[in-house]
Amino acid sequence: MNPLELSKAVGAVSDEDLRRAAKAQAAQRASVLVRELAAHHRSRLVKHFLALGEEDRLLRFGQSVGNHVIEAYVESIDFDHDSVFGVYDEHLELVGVGHFANLRDNAEGRVAEFGVSVSKSARGRGIGSSLFQRAAMHGRNSHVRTLYMHCLSRNAAMMHIAKKAGMKVQYAYGEADAYLELPPADTVSRLTEVLDEQVADLDYIVRRNLRDVRRFGLRFWRSMVPQKGTV
Ligand SMILES: CC(C)(COP(=O)(O)OP(=O)(O)OC[C@H]1O[C@@H](n2cnc3c(N)ncnc32)[C@H](O)[C@@H]1OP(=O)(O)O)[C@@H](O)C(=O)NCCC(=O)NCCS
Repeated sequence: MNPLELSKAVGAVSDEDLRRAAKAQAAQRASVLVRELAAHHRSRLVKHFLALGEEDRLLRFGQSVGNHVIEAYVESIDFDHDSVFGVYDEHLELVGVGHFANLRDNAEGRVAEFGVSVSKSARGRGIGSSLFQRAAMHGRNSHVRTLYMHCLSRNAAMMHIAKKAGMKVQYAYGEADAYLELPPADTVSRLTEVLDEQVADLDYIVRRNLRDVRRFGLRFWRSMVPQKGTV
C-alpha cells in the first residue's frame, strides 16, 4: 500500500483534498517531473556539475570552483539531513539539480538554503522554476519557515525566478540574498508532494525499463545477424 492509499484508508485525506491537490499539481509546469535523489546518485550529480561552464559554476557556487571542489562538495552532501532534487531529460541524463540544505533555526523558525543549476541545453523550459517550487513545497512540509537563496545580483534568470515566487530580495555589493516566507504545511501541500514524487518515480522507472528493453532488443537483433566472416 503506497502512502496515498494508506492516507485514504485511514481517512486522513478526503476526495476533496485529492481534487485540490490534483489542481495544485496541474498548476505547476505539468511537463517537468522532479525526483528526490539519494546518496547512490552522487556520480550523476558530479557529472551534472562538472558539465557546467566556468560562468555557471560561478553563479551556482558564488565563486569559481575547480573539478576537485565540485567532487568534494558532492561527496559532502548529507542526504539524511538535506534533500536533493533532480530532473532528468529524455535520455535519463540529470539536467537539473536543486540542493535544499537545512541551515539553522532563527527567531522566526527553521531556515533552509536552496541552490539550483540547470544544464545549458535544458534551460528556459521551466526546470529551474519547478525545482524551486518543489523545494518550497518540501520546505513547507518539513516545517521550514524561511527559504533562503544567495545569488549574484547580475543573475537575471535566477532573480526573475525568485521575484516571480514572491521572494524578498536584499542587494549588497553585487550580491543578492533572497528570502521566501513559507506558509505552514496543510493536507494539500503534503499530498501534492507525495503525488509529485510518485508520478516522477513512476515516469523514471517506465522510461528506464523502456530504454533497457530497447537495448536488449538491439543486442538480441545484433546477435542474430551473422557477423562478417562467419558465413
Ligand atoms: C538560473 C537557472 C537555474 C534557471 O534555470 P531554467 O531551467 O532556465 O529556469 P526556468 O526555465 O524555470 O525559468 C527561467 C525564467 O527566467 C527568465 N529569464 C531567463 N533569462 C533571463 C534574463 N536574462 N533576464 C530576465 N529573465 C530571464 C525566463 O524567461 C524564465 O521566466 P518565465 O518562467 O517567466 O518564462 C539556470 O539558468 C542556471 O542553472 N544557471 C546557472 C546556475 C545558477 O545561476 N544558479 C542559481 C544560483 S543559486
